[in-house]
Amino acid sequence: MRRSIAQLAFLSFLALPVLAAVPKLAELVSAKDIDPLVRDVIDNLQTDLADAATFRQAETRFEHAAYTLALYAEAVAQANGSIAWSAQARAVRDLAIKLAKTKNYNQARDLLERIKNVVSGTAPAGAAPAELAWEEVAPLVQVMKEVNLVNRSLRRYVRRERYFKRYRDRLDKAAVAMTVLAYIASHDNSAAKEPPKPIENAVQRYDQYSAQFVELSKLALDAVRKGSYDEAKAAVTKLQDVCAKCHEDFRPGIEF
Ligand code: HEC
Repeated sequence: MRRSIAQLAFLSFLALPVLAAVPKLAELVSAKDIDPLVRDVIDNLQTDLADAATFRQAETRFEHAAYTLALYAEAVAQANGSIAWSAQARAVRDLAIKLAKTKNYNQARDLLERIKNVVSGTAPAGAAPAELAWEEVAPLVQVMKEVNLVNRSLRRYVRRERYFKRYRDRLDKAAVAMTVLAYIASHDNSAAKEPPKPIENAVQRYDQYSAQFVELSKLALDAVRKGSYDEAKAAVTKLQDVCAKCHEDFRPGIEF
């Protein structure tokens, strides 16, 4: 007997584990955890602004770093606890979005200077802008680009126990970054609305991968903080599976 579409949809729904909702960012990381990531990105932007020629050459990388800064700034506003510049985190976000969009060297220098003044606490407090949807802060492709870079560090530092021990601080930063980025990525499931091949319950499946992405990133972070090499390695290994599965279904052909 042929099953109806509705029955098939129902059966494949049962085949999926129950979807755990993605927790709020404040339940995953604190603003203090994100602060060092922000400072690293600012240092990289600074390097690419050494002179006009460097800036022109670094165009794509610079744009990406500025979007990453915008994402982390919004994350500071939403994370647990507060740091010196939390009240102005969304002002930093908006300056960083402008920075990502400018092709003008002098304007870029001016914007980065203003960002540095806020983050170092030397800028007067201005009006606090409102929350933005994540996709208004930066497109998903920019989130994924950073996911890919951070993933390389994560994999490198769990390859051997002695790397894990020696580079615990870097691994901690990478695991915080991955948790934040996975959280952000989980808000945009538009790729599931036009899957490249027919997929049953596409949106639900996509959200499931997103939830696993967040969960495994957080598990990796917890393992790093506990000092458990085996758990960290296991979480990072499982994470690779989630990247691969989501991509296989929704974005086949991307190399990482
Ligand atoms: C829930 C689904 C999902 C998961 C999980 C996921 N991705 Fe993606 N990824 C996407 C989608 C969708 C895009 C396409 C974004 C776009 O172009 O708008 C993408 C794009 C990318 C890109 C291409 C970026 C570019 O420059 O065009 C890379 C690289 C990437 N992902 C790496 C990863 C890695 C590494 C992981 C795991 C650590 C991962 N992704 C996890 C859905 C996912």
